[in-house]
Amino acid sequence: MIQIGEILKQVPFFRSLGRDSIDFITEKLKFKQFKDKATICKVGDPGDKMWIVLSGKVAVLAANQEVLANIGAGNYFGEMALLTGEPRSATVVAAEDTETFILDKDDFDVILEKYPSISIAMSKIMSQRLRETNAVVSEKAKEMKSTPAGPSGNLKDRHIMEVIAFCESNSLTGDLEVTSGGDKAVIAYDKGVLQNIKLRDLNDDEALDLMMGWEEGSFVIKPKIISFDGGEPEKETKPAKKAGAILVINHSMVVRKILEKNLTSLGHSVKTADGITEGIAALRSAQPNLIVSDFKYDEVSGHDFCMQMRENEGFENIPFVFITDSNTESATIAQLKKIPNAALVDSQDVGEMAKTIEQML
Ligand code: CMP
Repeated sequence: MIQIGEILKQVPFFRSLGRDSIDFITEKLKFKQFKDKATICKVGDPGDKMWIVLSGKVAVLAANQEVLANIGAGNYFGEMALLTGEPRSATVVAAEDTETFILDKDDFDVILEKYPSISIAMSKIMSQRLRETNAVVSEKAKEMKSTPAGPSGNLKDRHIMEVIAFCESNSLTGDLEVTSGGDKAVIAYDKGVLQNIKLRDLNDDEALDLMMGWEEGSFVIKPKIISFDGGEPEKETKPAKKAGAILVINHSMVVRKILEKNLTSLGHSVKTADGITEGIAALRSAQPNLIVSDFKYDEVSGHDFCMQMRENEGFENIPFVFITDSNTESATIAQLKKIPNAALVDSQDVGEMAKTIEQML
């Protein structure tokens, strides 16, 4: 017990604690060894414990495998997920044979409550770590940006999700072209917002699903070059005159994402749901004054869904904007057009969507 206490005294935030507190914490710790190269936790996993390094060394890796830091004896890791409730911010692997103490979340919470000074010290270190992580990630982004021929690379080195996230965070206006096997996909972006995906004759959702499985292939980002004479005039994005609470119900993650970003930027408050059940639940919690809906669902038609929603007290005449696409049958369009206080907009035309919503609010 005393020996463990001595080791704990090396950990910065335990240093200021007295003997009794160290003994209290020591009782909660479990010993665990990791072999060189063993993965200890993975980015994105939920966090239910943290580790204190007794001997050896671990490497902290970002989602793109970039090394963020090495952590050695007397230091700790895995605290961020416990403090924030967010998933693991990084992957941690043993960089040599490593001995650790594990502290489970429940005990961690008790200790923080009992010794608030630890939580303050930890928060300071956490924000420093986050700053370092951001610096490494943005340095990497700069490297990608400055490649003369436009950022390009191999899907073996960067997962497609990482490339997509890069285009979004760098507010790309232009195309991301991805080639894998015999397929070529072109994702169009406008100021970092995904507009559409061209891949065979798949819709955006199906295309994205297929691309998620592409482990091999290459990508190239082609920003749209602006010029004085040939360039398209910048579209004016006027904020909406009337802002509303909008509920977007759509099975397509891409459609939901695009609408959420665009409508929020116009000042609307937006909630999204991916189907009928979630949509009905959101009706009460979001109290929307307009619903943007799929034109059909697995269980019912868009028409019947609208009627069902309007049976709810307070929502008898709630405006509906139905999102249609080139595959929507003409009989369905005709049926939807008959619904009072409802409009139809093509899924590709986000500008038209914004205008229609404003008129109907
Ligand atoms: P957590 O997010 O729970 O899981 C991964 C851990 O890696 C994280 O907690 C931190 O303890 C550690 N970590 C993340 N980023 C850094 C960094 N930049 N420097 C040192 N450690 C880090």
